Amino acid sequence: MPPATSSPVLRRSRDEGDTATVPHAPPNDARVIWRAALRAVRAETERRAAPLGPEDQVVQSMADTSPTKWHRAHSTWFLEQFLLVPRLAGYRVFDERFAYLFNSYYVAAGPRHARPKRGLVTRPDCADVAAFRAHVDEAVERLIATVEEPELAEVARILEIGLHHEQQHQELLLTDILHAFAQNPLAPAYAADWQAPRAHSSSLEFADLPSGIHRIGFEGEGYCFDNERPAHQVLLAPARVARGLVRNAQWLEFMAEGGYATPSLWLSDGWGMVETEGWNAPGYWRRRDGVWMSLTLGGLEPVDPDAPVTHVSYYEADAFARWAGKHLPTEAEWEVAARAGLLDDVFGVVWQWTRSAYLPYPGYRAADGALGEYNGKFMINQMVLRGSSHATPAGHTRPSYRNFFYPSARWQFSGLRLLDYVG
Ligand SMILES: [Fe+2]
Repeated sequence: MPPATSSPVLRRSRDEGDTATVPHAPPNDARVIWRAALRAVRAETERRAAPLGPEDQVVQSMADTSPTKWHRAHSTWFLEQFLLVPRLAGYRVFDERFAYLFNSYYVAAGPRHARPKRGLVTRPDCADVAAFRAHVDEAVERLIATVEEPELAEVARILEIGLHHEQQHQELLLTDILHAFAQNPLAPAYAADWQAPRAHSSSLEFADLPSGIHRIGFEGEGYCFDNERPAHQVLLAPARVARGLVRNAQWLEFMAEGGYATPSLWLSDGWGMVETEGWNAPGYWRRRDGVWMSLTLGGLEPVDPDAPVTHVSYYEADAFARWAGKHLPTEAEWEVAARAGLLDDVFGVVWQWTRSAYLPYPGYRAADGALGEYNGKFMINQMVLRGSSHATPAGHTRPSYRNFFYPSARWQFSGLRLLDYVG
């Protein structure tokens, strides 16, 4: 697959040092910019789906993953439900039945199909979903072009959420199809020329993390999700943080020293997963003729010792850190270190587990209404990952970005870096 198309018109945060284009654009330019943003994001979803045939697009390999066709339709329903129905006068819903099929978890938006059964929906087919996407694209463009000036800012606000939402599904589209292909004895490739994550740095150094009071969270102009606010103070203990990501060579050492066979290294729930799931290596690793291979989006490839480890759960990351005599950073430590320029391969390689539970920041309140369900109601029993992966769309990264998954999850591009406390 060629490199991801960037979406320059989608604002990156000032934290990334990019020039924001939308906030200072004159009104007429804003309409042009939002139409271009819509087209770029929607096209990127289709580009990612393009190598997948209709049979590929309907499969759902576990309850946590969704079919490609569903991702394409759900991201479209999101725009229809939250933007077009309330904001475009005279809008004709494409198909009244789709709200039930393609609502994910928005209780306030009505009843929905059972998540584990998304793969059983063979109809509407891929052509129907393509028509749904085209119908909504045309209507959103019409809304952007015709909305009265006083309402443009609100339309842009909801559209921006919708586009960032679709970008999240673009990454899931890839992680989910990889999990599906991993169930196939033929180990198919999504794209033969897919480049597995490569670390740019091989540093084993630890850098001094400035202790004391710091601020984390999003502030200033630009887009963020509600869970990144409010910015607030944190107190950091003296520590040293690994510049580089943990690599496969280190993970192979962990395995060779009985990492997956030593209960004392593991949290109780993690050891339970080792026993019930038979974990003895990262996700998608297979032993072939004495060689560790890994299923990637490019097919089955030998494990590269220099590449960052990926497809490990929080439980595995935590066990590895204990074995190494180190710790996982908290999300506050990670963010302060990233902002201070202490970390290599911060973004675009693998997500990095932190030892922070996914909780609301001080004073956080979810918004009223269905969109308030986006993040807030998931703030329990999950762990935060920071950074981004090579499957994350361009422009969808921020130092304050909080990804979150259950500690047993390992179908994401999830890795880790280490931290050590001083004194
Ligand atoms: Fe969604």
